[in-house]
Amino acid sequence: MASVQLADVALHVVERGRGTPLLLVHGFPLDHTMWHGQLDALADTCRVIAPDLRGFGASSVVAGTATMTQLADDLAALLEKLAISEPVVFCGLSMGGYVAWQFALRHPQKLAKLIVCDTRAVADSAEAAAGRIKTADKVLKEGAGVVAEAMLPKLFAPDTAKSQPTLVEATRQVILGTAPEGIAAALRGMAERPDVTAQLAQIKVPTLVICGEHDGIAPPAEMRGIAEQLPAGKFALIKQAGHMAPLEQPAAVNAAIREFLR
Ligand code: MLT
Repeated sequence: MASVQLADVALHVVERGRGTPLLLVHGFPLDHTMWHGQLDALADTCRVIAPDLRGFGASSVVAGTATMTQLADDLAALLEKLAISEPVVFCGLSMGGYVAWQFALRHPQKLAKLIVCDTRAVADSAEAAAGRIKTADKVLKEGAGVVAEAMLPKLFAPDTAKSQPTLVEATRQVILGTAPEGIAAALRGMAERPDVTAQLAQIKVPTLVICGEHDGIAPPAEMRGIAEQLPAGKFALIKQAGHMAPLEQPAAVNAAIREFLR
């Protein structure tokens, strides 16, 4: 566990293993602990690098707007600070996937392969973007509990809440422990993220698109469509999982990742 100082923020980062660099980028409003099921499991063949994005976990919190391009540039700077010069496998979930698109488009020389889990290529509708701005204001007034209550019912497959209640509770605690300023900044950044659908054709690296079969935020049909628009896209459906597929079904997700990296 380390804290890596960049130009204006310090990013907290956890590393395991040696081998192909595999950068695991968490979703909103979480931190690196959502990769609990991958961190050790994939460390036998990979150098697994799991940062907390700015505003989350133990990383610096910056008020304002955290754009997806800023978050992607933070990660490019982090790789330089860690002296990782070879291209990495970038794996991002949901908001981490929005960051992944920007990383692929802005830092292609740093990218060997891409894995996007439970994410979207389209921008927010005007209504959704306005809703995020309202939520950002509410979180600043009332605290992180606002997003915990709004998001938790959407994150997991119906069975996960029953069969793995500790996962849901641990996720709640991560959200409740997140700084309201960090949550608000990411909400504003997601609200203004661009639609990258037309740019998918520019992402030529092999890309694995992973989706939980019960994901209601990034539904399987939409994600299958993303895989079809990517020049080297592959789709993997994860049974008995919702939006948090790597956390809900780590064995199935890790098998898909291993197969893709072979
Ligand atoms: C996430 O899991 O990162 C969020 O669902 C992303 C979003 O709110 O669009």
